[in-house]
Amino acid sequence: MGTGKQARHFLDLTDAGADDVAAMIADAIDRKAARAGRPKGATDADAPLAGYVLALVFEKNSTRTRVSFDIAMRQLGGSVLILDSASSQLGRGESIADTARVLSRMVDAIMLRTDDHAKIEEMARHATVPVINGLTDKSHPCQIVADLLTVIEHGKALPGLEVAWFGDGNNVLHSILEAAGLFKFNVRVATPAGYEPDPAFVASARAGGAVVTLTQDPHTAARGADVLVTDTWISMGQADAAEKKSAMAPFQINAALMDAAKPDAVFLHCLPAHVGDEVSEDVFEGAQSVVFDEAENRIHAQKSVLLWSFGRIGSR
Ligand code: CP
Ligand code: NVA
Repeated sequence: MGTGKQARHFLDLTDAGADDVAAMIADAIDRKAARAGRPKGATDADAPLAGYVLALVFEKNSTRTRVSFDIAMRQLGGSVLILDSASSQLGRGESIADTARVLSRMVDAIMLRTDDHAKIEEMARHATVPVINGLTDKSHPCQIVADLLTVIEHGKALPGLEVAWFGDGNNVLHSILEAAGLFKFNVRVATPAGYEPDPAFVASARAGGAVVTLTQDPHTAARGADVLVTDTWISMGQADAAEKKSAMAPFQINAALMDAAKPDAVFLHCLPAHVGDEVSEDVFEGAQSVVFDEAENRIHAQKSVLLWSFGRIGSR
C-alpha cells in the first residue's frame, strides 16, 4: 500500500467502526457536492489517489459494484484493472494466497467479490495491500455505506431509525445488522421461518444497542417504519427453488406494506431487482422509491471506502 502503513482491510463495517464509517459518509457527501454537474469521469480537484491502481476480482457477476469502483477510482485520479475467475489463473486453481501475494506486488489495493467469505479472509491474510469486500455469501458492506448515505440524504438521522427488512435473511441484511449495531438504529426483520439471518449478526447488533425484532408477519415489521428494504429472494450461487419463492411471496413489499409505514418512509433495494417478486411495480417505480439514488451512491460511498483503506480518512 503506498502509505507505508499496515494495510487497512474492509471486509466488514466493523473493520472501520462507527466513527470511521461516519467519516466515510461525511466525506462522500462533501465530495459528491464538490463535483456536482461535472462529467462522471472527471477527476476530483485534489486527485487523492493519482497513480494508484485497484484490482477488481470477480468470482460472481456484477454491474453496480464493477462500474462504481471503476468510476470511483477515475474520480480519485487512479485506475482499475478487472480480473474474473474464468479468465484468470484463479479459475484454474491458483490459490488465493498466491494470488494475494502476486497482486500485492503489482497493484495498490484489491477488491474481491466471491462466493465464500473464507476466501476474502484468506486474501486479507496474505495481501500486503488493502482488501475490500465487494460482496461475499456472508456480507456486502460497501452496499450498506451507500445505503446509509442515501438514507441520510433523504433527511433521516440514523440513531433510532426504524428499518424494516422483508424476505430472505441474506448477506445484505447481515451488513444492515452490522450497521445497526454501530449506529444504534433498529431493524425489524420479516422472513419466512427458516430464512432468518445468521444469529451472530443479530446478537452483535443487539450488543451494539440496536433493537432487532424477528417476525414472520410483514405488517408487524412495516408498521411505522422509516425505511423498507428488500433484496432478491435468490442470491447469486443459490438454487432458484420454487419452494423458496413460494415461502417468500407474502413478504413482497407492495402498496399495502408501504401504507403501513410512516408517510415519509423510503424504499431501498440494492438491485438488481425482480419486480413482481420481492417488490411490486408500483412501489419500485413509486415516489418513495430511492433505488436509483442508492445505485448512484455506490460511486460516492466507494470513494470513501477507498480513501479509508488508503488511510486518507478516518481515525484508526
Ligand atoms: N448491488 C450490487 O452489488 O449490484 P451488482 O451485483 O450489480 O454489483
Ligand atoms: N443478495 C444478493 C445481492 C446482490 C447485489 C446476492 O448475493 O446475489
